[in-house]
Amino acid sequence: MRKLAFVVLLIACLIQNAAAQKKLFPETEDQKKERMAWWVNDRFGMFIHWGLYALPARHEWVKNQERITTEDYQKYFDNFNPDLYNPREWAKMAKAAGMKYAVITTKHHEGFCLFDSKFTDYKATNTAIGRDLLKEWVEAFRAEGLKIGFYYSLIDWHHPDFTVDRVHPQRTDDKAKLAELNKGRDMNKYREYLHNQVRELLTNYGKVDILWLDFSYPGENGKGAKDWDSEKLLKLIRQLQPGIIVDDRLDLKDYEDGWDFTTPEQYKVSKWPEVNGKKAYWETCQTFSGSWGYYRDEMTWKDTKQLLGLLIESVSKGGNLLLNVGPTARGMFDERANKALLAMGEWMKWNNRSIYGCTQAPEEFKAPDNTLLTYNPKKNRLYIHLLDYPLQNLTLTGFAGKIKYAQFLHDASEIKISQRTEHGMKEGESTGSINLSLPVIKPNVEIPVIELILK
Ligand code: GLC
Repeated sequence: MRKLAFVVLLIACLIQNAAAQKKLFPETEDQKKERMAWWVNDRFGMFIHWGLYALPARHEWVKNQERITTEDYQKYFDNFNPDLYNPREWAKMAKAAGMKYAVITTKHHEGFCLFDSKFTDYKATNTAIGRDLLKEWVEAFRAEGLKIGFYYSLIDWHHPDFTVDRVHPQRTDDKAKLAELNKGRDMNKYREYLHNQVRELLTNYGKVDILWLDFSYPGENGKGAKDWDSEKLLKLIRQLQPGIIVDDRLDLKDYEDGWDFTTPEQYKVSKWPEVNGKKAYWETCQTFSGSWGYYRDEMTWKDTKQLLGLLIESVSKGGNLLLNVGPTARGMFDERANKALLAMGEWMKWNNRSIYGCTQAPEEFKAPDNTLLTYNPKKNRLYIHLLDYPLQNLTLTGFAGKIKYAQFLHDASEIKISQRTEHGMKEGESTGSINLSLPVIKPNVEIPVIELILK
């Protein structure tokens, strides 16, 4: 009996392992590295969640959370008129913050499309504003030299063929009621709609750098790869936009190449994330205040230091940060978002060298307490981010003999290096540690950065 269990387990492991190795495309690891190169270099992007949910202004899941029917949700469509929408201003803000790419919700779970889709009437062109808001957005962001990404919700709480499941606004535990609700709904038709819209998005707007599909929840009364026909969809995507970078929410994690990067959402990872034992390309998406869509009464806004901490921390573990703005229903970034972006931009202006092109530091360099390290492998420079400004001396253990020169990054002012000696040591003896002499007064920089030019 035991033997049998062992054999079953072994076979299960082998199958799982084989599954992890499955591939959909001929691309090699080096070719992928090349395709991902700009994204890995750029590190910092803007997420934009904008849709009808900006009107209720109390979370983009409001339809779900308050179990609103499509009929009752209609008032937001009827009143949608973002008269102040000027994506050029958005693009300028993103650029000023130091962001290099941006990803916008072309359609969120509510089903409303910012773009002029042939396959639905539920779109911006049919509202009071009467314009293809996505087209203008693409032009504006491209004009500022930013790379562009489309978020597209796999979920659709408006489409009449999308079946009611466990995360649907009309969800119910009553099986008979559920069957009743789903009578006449045909996921085959929805799947076709989904593929058609992705085709439109990747055909009508020129080069698209990123596709951010969201999200799968397989299992009982959920939806996953089969429901979306994710394999076919990904093949279509790669065929239409060969260079595009795709997130990992299509439920294709069994395939080595069923996704390009992984997406830890609203939490700090403890180390560089691994998938199937391999360090993965990764991007954390984060909000200023908890909600993605504009949320008028949400007061838990992160401060500048916390936001910069998120960015630096991501790079220090080899990842990217996609930071979200939820514009208002008039088409503006609200004042708090603008303030945060400008403050981050102020820091980035002087310190972006520790972000762009940087990654996790080689293991031999241990971060001193209250610091984060990043490293530029091409330039062989190491960056020490001082989260808590030390009193005059910063001791670096294990760095002795490895540093050519040290300076503050923001003003290129020299930082003196000395071998650290300890009381009672003879001349010429060394602790192996070195000391950096810092000014007493913290430079007027939110998080000061020391740049070490390595030997
Ligand atoms: C989630 C949520 C959503 C948000 C997204 C961003 O899956 O459903 O509202 O758009 O994550 O990562």
